[in-house]
Amino acid sequence: MSETARTYADQITSPAVYAQPDELHKAFAALRANDPLAWLEPEGFRPFWAATKHQDIMEISRQNKLFTNGEREILSPVATEEQVYAIMGGPHLVRTLVQMDDPDHFKFRHLTQQWFLPQNVRQRSEAVKAIAREFVDKMEDMGGECDFVNDIALYYPLRVIMQILGVPKEDEPLMLKLTQELFGAADEDYSRDADALGQKDVAAGLAAMQSVVGDFFAYFTDITKDRRANPKDDVASVIANGQIDGEPIGEFEAMSYYVIVAAAGHDTTSASTAGGVLAMLEARDQLDKFMADPQGLSRTTVDEAIRWTTPVKHFMRTAQDDYELRGNTIRKGESIMLCYSSGNRDEEVFDDPFSFKVDRSPNKLISFGYGGHMCLGMHLARLEMMTLYEELFSRVKSIELAGEPKHIKTTFVGGPKSVPIRYKF
Ligand code: HEM
Repeated sequence: MSETARTYADQITSPAVYAQPDELHKAFAALRANDPLAWLEPEGFRPFWAATKHQDIMEISRQNKLFTNGEREILSPVATEEQVYAIMGGPHLVRTLVQMDDPDHFKFRHLTQQWFLPQNVRQRSEAVKAIAREFVDKMEDMGGECDFVNDIALYYPLRVIMQILGVPKEDEPLMLKLTQELFGAADEDYSRDADALGQKDVAAGLAAMQSVVGDFFAYFTDITKDRRANPKDDVASVIANGQIDGEPIGEFEAMSYYVIVAAAGHDTTSASTAGGVLAMLEARDQLDKFMADPQGLSRTTVDEAIRWTTPVKHFMRTAQDDYELRGNTIRKGESIMLCYSSGNRDEEVFDDPFSFKVDRSPNKLISFGYGGHMCLGMHLARLEMMTLYEELFSRVKSIELAGEPKHIKTTFVGGPKSVPIRYKF
């Protein structure tokens, strides 16, 4: 390990550091400057390369045969990895698109891809607008103060994706709770077993995670039965009745598919929706600029919010052959962490990367990844955020922070946990 890698290895793998964006960005800036493709050996983890430059993240992501997902798709402590292997006989608790490689990945992605193409997403714009209006009305009804995360940002994308998936409104709180337990497992406010987290009890922590996945699976077993008997115009019906190579989709894969759409479909978008509002409240000139022309600036503002927040902090790939990059040899079998948060602050790609600019253009954000696994829901996420921002900022007269914002402790998916605001309509 280089001196820089030794200094920052523990930070890059610590959920608590991700809850302090300034600390995190200091670590990534040092890595980009001194050891941009760093070999890290953090205590408690299998070693890996950290790719912190935008260009390297793209170069690795676009080569899906050479750099695969199947073995190690996200960072987990070695003790957790060993337990998962012991229980599942393989490296994963679920088998979703992000754990798959071709040929399976292509076939499974193809099943639902149609639903998320721009032309089909656009057809939902009126339905999305109605939901956005409902949530801005709710803010207005709340009388001038709310927690933008816990009252608005968490529930709005949830409603949109659950409508598309076909989950009834009354089950949204359950979906939200399960998703928070899944992605917030390293944060004591969300973990299903906070005692296990505090005591670093790996077996109990994993058991908690398994029970979360079990609850998701139990819920979607009923949905599958229903949609096989009565198919509807929703994504659940596509999954339940999906065929791979002429055979019905496997139960484990079907359950996993619902989980990725349900979970990836809202926490990410909530995080960037809230993160963008927080960024503007902290850069008043940008807020004023946006409020003067919300329709004209919504596209660039939304992309900037997604760059700024980077709700998915990383994914990993494993090399299937030796590969030369930046004067290093990545050996066959070694894994690479794609540090999206760092790529999104890369000084070589973004002009003034540490400033939030509502009119940033071009904006080569890497938040949705790249290559064959590039985010399936990115057009939907953009539509949702633009719609809410246009509705909110064309109606609200003034808006300001009313307390200390807090962030989620996670190395995987997250953003603001609380953004207290005061406003007038
Ligand atoms: C994959 C980010 C919203 C569904 C991904 C990946 C990232 C990401 C980084 C992995 C890309 C890669 O490996 O190259 C985000 C962000 C979002 C967002 C930042 C919001 C701002 C959504 C939404 C959905 C969704 C609304 C709804 C369906 C998925 C799925 C995958 C994925 C299914 C797996 C794709 C695959 O492996 O082929 N997303 N996402 N995401 N995302 Fe999103």
